[in-house]
Amino acid sequence: MSRFDVDAIRGRFPALAIEDGGRPVALFDGPGGTQVPSSVIDAVDAYYRTSNANHGGPFLTSRRSDATAHEAHQAMADLLGADDPSEIKFGANMTSLTFHVSRSIGATMAPGDEIVVTNLDHEGNVGPWKAIAADRDLVVRTLDIREADCTLALDQLDGLLTDRTRLVAVGWASNAVGTINPVREIVRRAHAAGAWTYIDAVHAAPHLPLDVRAVETDFLACSTYKFFGPHAGVLYGRGEVLDRLPPYKVRPAEDRFETGTGNFEGLAGVTAAVDYIADIGARYGDATPGASRRDLAVAGMGAIRAYEMELYRRLADGLEAIPGLTLYGITDWARFGERTPTAALRLDGLTPRGVAEALGAEGIAVWDGDFYATGLMERLGLLDRGGVVRIGLTHYNTAAEVDRLLEALGRIASGAALARPATAAAG
Ligand SMILES: Cc1ncc(COP(=O)(O)O)c(C=O)c1O
Repeated sequence: MSRFDVDAIRGRFPALAIEDGGRPVALFDGPGGTQVPSSVIDAVDAYYRTSNANHGGPFLTSRRSDATAHEAHQAMADLLGADDPSEIKFGANMTSLTFHVSRSIGATMAPGDEIVVTNLDHEGNVGPWKAIAADRDLVVRTLDIREADCTLALDQLDGLLTDRTRLVAVGWASNAVGTINPVREIVRRAHAAGAWTYIDAVHAAPHLPLDVRAVETDFLACSTYKFFGPHAGVLYGRGEVLDRLPPYKVRPAEDRFETGTGNFEGLAGVTAAVDYIADIGARYGDATPGASRRDLAVAGMGAIRAYEMELYRRLADGLEAIPGLTLYGITDWARFGERTPTAALRLDGLTPRGVAEALGAEGIAVWDGDFYATGLMERLGLLDRGGVVRIGLTHYNTAAEVDRLLEALGRIASGAALARPATAAAG
């Protein structure tokens, strides 16, 4: 294992060389989607050059295409720790997959049955459950947050679980404020109440090693464009649970949940993205030589996590020193193990869009708004006020980029303070 070499890593991502105004762009937009390494671009390219065909044909390109799809299922099973590649289902994105499978899950429920969602979650793990509840006369209950640190109010969970609860839908990590939820504990309590669990791991997947078996969840969804792959959604469903669901499929389709023709070129890229993470594990992780791809991927995510959180401490330190800056979520260093390197903030006297535009004009990419974490922004009273500015660190960000961002934010904040009338500044 060698030192985490961020320069070498950056060299593998062609888009990091993009310049804006004569300077390389500094990309802190990872929670909205990451860049991809050359190996992913090459894999998509190679699919089109050598394997492009529909599935199931008795000829070379179709056989290759089928192999591409099979490899991607195995790769995602390795990344997520699933028992079998048949437990992995691909779709357009997390939201579409969740709407799709919610129809099957909802078909097992009777009027009056209950679903628990949270107001920390992205709408992708809320809207589909509210929609199926409206269709089938189900009851939706919402688990609240503790406003001070944007963590789930877990003391209220047991009060929401009843003998009618059939599903608990919860995020592994918040894409807006970075809170990591104790998903193993939530699954345990949901199962004790006789409910299935549906975990949204879209924001967790780029930052944490995931293990569906250790967490014992029934379902988990994520999106490969958030972790260095192409635009595709992934659903894990525990085999015995998937087998019990009525599928919504056309008659001849072989797979019960993957409908229509697959995104085969994307699947080639998915395998390459998982191999990339495994390669990070082989180079910089603590896996033993000859380890399986699963172990290498876990080691890769471990190395990524350690590097990202070191960088996050630098960012958090700098942000706290900027006057007029409010940070949301967990800010206590001792609890950084409960967060991802995703910061949500506001600057006094400026809209989040104004801050993002000022940074964007300097070639620094951050997002502003609610990021579809609509319930959370409503709860924080920020939905009609432009939400927050989101700075998302990824393992290809550097300390120099963080310093550049902090310097720019500091300047923007003091410009806003100077522009404010003295009474407002004092308040
Ligand atoms: C936590 C979280 N869940 C769900 C989604 C939706 O993912 P998709 O775009 O794949 O539908 C996102 C996208 O930003 C997200 O961050």
